[in-house]
Amino acid sequence: MEVVIAPSAREAAIIAAGAFERLLAGADRPVIGLATGRSPLPTYRELIERCRDGRVSFARTRVFLLDEYVGLDPEHSQSCRSVIRRELLDQVDAPSGALVVPECAPAGLATAPEAYERRIADAGGIDLQLLGIGRNGHIGFNEPPSSLGSRTRLTTLAAATREDNAGSFDDDPEMVPRQGITQGVGTILEARHLLLIATGDTKSASVAGAVEGPVTAMVPASALQLHPRATVIIDEAAGRELQHADYYREACRNRFVWQHI
Ligand code: F6R
Repeated sequence: MEVVIAPSAREAAIIAAGAFERLLAGADRPVIGLATGRSPLPTYRELIERCRDGRVSFARTRVFLLDEYVGLDPEHSQSCRSVIRRELLDQVDAPSGALVVPECAPAGLATAPEAYERRIADAGGIDLQLLGIGRNGHIGFNEPPSSLGSRTRLTTLAAATREDNAGSFDDDPEMVPRQGITQGVGTILEARHLLLIATGDTKSASVAGAVEGPVTAMVPASALQLHPRATVIIDEAAGRELQHADYYREACRNRFVWQHI
């Protein structure tokens, strides 16, 4: 696991966008996995700018959602697919069929997780998966405790997550759907590169748990410690509780140019 402490949330976004830029420039048919929530928004804005400047193209890209609410009209403005379209895909040169989403209609729910896993496998797996982290250490909708081997499945959102997401639902946690379909922790670990972004001091405890704590189902993000290529990009505030911050800074300073993120 590589930990990069950026001076600001904006700098964190620039670093994350750089990883996308390199992948999109180098791969024939890049496959990316995207998260919603507040953390990736500055990265999406940076990618939109780079696309307008001609530095980045999504023309050959397949995009998989990390998770989606269940029980919410897919066309609702806060469904994960609507958010990803609005915040990124509609503003770049992604073809209309680029986005792959899990089936969330009641009739297809029982078979949706397996079907979604198959679609990821058929695309050749995910090259770069962007992640946020919840205050309770969740990734996707994998709430604690989530098996570190879990696959795409239906899950129930923790009360804390519904509270945190209430801002998108008229500030009313009761309006936040109670269930979601999410790539499992084991599914996420199969992506070739994981990029977790966390900014702000509300994330400092979960970041410390994920990076320096034991690998445990109680902190699903700690599973990133098991991944051969996981990058955690944080700002100073999110890194406030890390015991080894100086070491991470030193490691970044000593990186060779070719060891880019
Ligand atoms: C979003 C997702 C969630 C968020 C997490 C952090 O697709 O799966 O795990 O990444 O809840 O949310 P923010 O970034 O809003 O703090």
